[in-house]
Amino acid sequence: MNKVSTSRHELRSVLITGATGGIGMELAKRYAKPGRVLMLWGRNKERLDAIAKLCCARGAEVFPRQIDLSNGEAALAALREDQARSGLDLVILGAGLSDIKSPDQQTEDPAGVLRLALVNYATPVTLATAAAQSMLSQGYGKIVLIGSVAGFYELPFAASYSSSKAGLACFAHAANLAWRPKNIQLTLVVPGFVDTPMSQRLEGPRPFLVSAGSAACKIMKAVKSGQAELIFPWQFRVMRIAERLLPAFLRKHILQSLDVGQKEHAGG
Ligand SMILES: NC(=O)c1ccc[n+]([C@@H]2O[C@H](COP(=O)([O-])OP(=O)(O)OC[C@H]3O[C@@H](n4cnc5c(N)ncnc54)[C@H](OP(=O)(O)O)[C@@H]3O)[C@@H](O)[C@H]2O)c1
Repeated sequence: MNKVSTSRHELRSVLITGATGGIGMELAKRYAKPGRVLMLWGRNKERLDAIAKLCCARGAEVFPRQIDLSNGEAALAALREDQARSGLDLVILGAGLSDIKSPDQQTEDPAGVLRLALVNYATPVTLATAAAQSMLSQGYGKIVLIGSVAGFYELPFAASYSSSKAGLACFAHAANLAWRPKNIQLTLVVPGFVDTPMSQRLEGPRPFLVSAGSAACKIMKAVKSGQAELIFPWQFRVMRIAERLLPAFLRKHILQSLDVGQKEHAGG
């Protein structure tokens, strides 16, 4: 098979999970154009129909899929079905949920922890692997995983969220070592606060807040150039360097004294 450069290859088929969310909708809108197939996945039917309609109006051929990603096997079967019908040039695994333990809870809810681990970690790494298999046989492809700066920290009030994103980052770094030499470009996106329903639920400040539209533009630029990791906004890159100078006891003390709440708990 001839090797085709991923960077120069036209992205004819794009699959986006979380296409009903703040960042996913902005990505779907911007990727929609004549000659492109968009496979848009989400759970909320109303928002899924709305974004599908908008992307069709922009000339894309759209296949919306209502799916719950806590069922990893169903998600894997769905990806294979989409791949067989339309191929996969770019797969953006953006769906995710966040949750924060309230001060009156001793621990997070175990059922919620399981759902979060499936949606934020187990299903995306499964789908990324299946997508890479199909891309390896076509000789090129791009995959995006959306992590979080929360993955940099052991957050005591969001142990499941922060660890799911840390795990995703570890997977992305390892998979890049394996796949990049074979012309599969994986981009790990690590956002700070983005103005979407997810962060709007938080109580308290959202420093260095970025709009969902601006986040989508940064992600698309990173995908185009084949960047392995995109951390934004830049202030979090600086903090990441600065915090390496912190002694361990001070880091632990700061993490334990953080007080973050949310208006409502993550729904099913
Ligand atoms: N917003 C931020 O400040 C921020 C910061 C760092 C990282 N991130 C990450 O960015 C990604 C996108 O988040 P967002 O900010 O756009 O949040 P959002 O507006 O809340 O969107 C979340 C998306 O994930 C989907 N989703 C959640 N649970 C699902 C499930 N069980 N099955 C299928 N889909 C499910 C939602 O689908 P439905 O709405 O249809 O249920 C929605 O499309 C997430 O991975 C998030 O962790 C966000």
